[in-house]
Amino acid sequence: MIIAQLSDPHIADLACEFQGLYDTAGKLRLAIETMNGLSPRPTIAVMTGDLVNTGTAGEYAILKEILESSEVPIYLGIGNHDNREEFLKQFSDLAYLKDDDFIQYVVEMENLRMIMLDTNIPGKPQGILCEERLKWLDDKLAEKPDTPTVIFMHHPPIETGIQAMDEMGLMNKPGFEAVVAKYDNIIHICCGHLHRNITGVFGGRRVQVCASTSHKVMLDLTDNKRLATTNEPSEMQLHLWTGKTLITHNIFTAPHDIMWELEGDLY
Ligand SMILES: [Fe+2]
Ligand SMILES: [Fe+2]
Repeated sequence: MIIAQLSDPHIADLACEFQGLYDTAGKLRLAIETMNGLSPRPTIAVMTGDLVNTGTAGEYAILKEILESSEVPIYLGIGNHDNREEFLKQFSDLAYLKDDDFIQYVVEMENLRMIMLDTNIPGKPQGILCEERLKWLDDKLAEKPDTPTVIFMHHPPIETGIQAMDEMGLMNKPGFEAVVAKYDNIIHICCGHLHRNITGVFGGRRVQVCASTSHKVMLDLTDNKRLATTNEPSEMQLHLWTGKTLITHNIFTAPHDIMWELEGDLY
């Protein structure tokens, strides 16, 4: 089974400079077109937040129209740029959103549990897993402590060295770590928010950050706390579930050509 991860499309309307700079809507359309054309095609896709740029009803309407072009079922999570109420107004018909007041739910297939968490704090760039959300997570994990489980969430629970973004990172990491520590079956934590492909470790578990389908955050590992975005190529991730572990591939969303191919037998 392949799980596609798309993150941070930041769908913006025409009044926003990000739409002019990056064509966020066109970039997400291209990512979905690329995903639709993959062989084998992913079984599901997960979108890890910052679905839209400012959280308006108009932006969510654009997002909804774009998502209709997907031939892969896409499960949505929210980030700091999202507005939970506006999101729920537009996507209230999604059956998987009925489980919790937050945008949190469990998807289970092929002996893999995928848990989406909601780290949004209204009006703030930082993220949090409050006591209520952590209790929900603990309860869900306790249901099946032996089934391999992947957590999806917008804010990664790691410091990345990009200091401007780390200051907008996940708060109460110790509370999350205490829950994670109780469950050996958590094999992977997949995130967004940083707009770059980054790998780290949290509580002994692999953390993978997926780049944005739109713009990248500039890589600045100095102490300058500079925040800028670039036009580096847009990417998404394909997580291959082998039945035991996840293998993550980063792929560009723009089309590419095969330039060489072996003809004849391999060896
Ligand atoms: Fe973002
Ligand atoms: Fe974010």
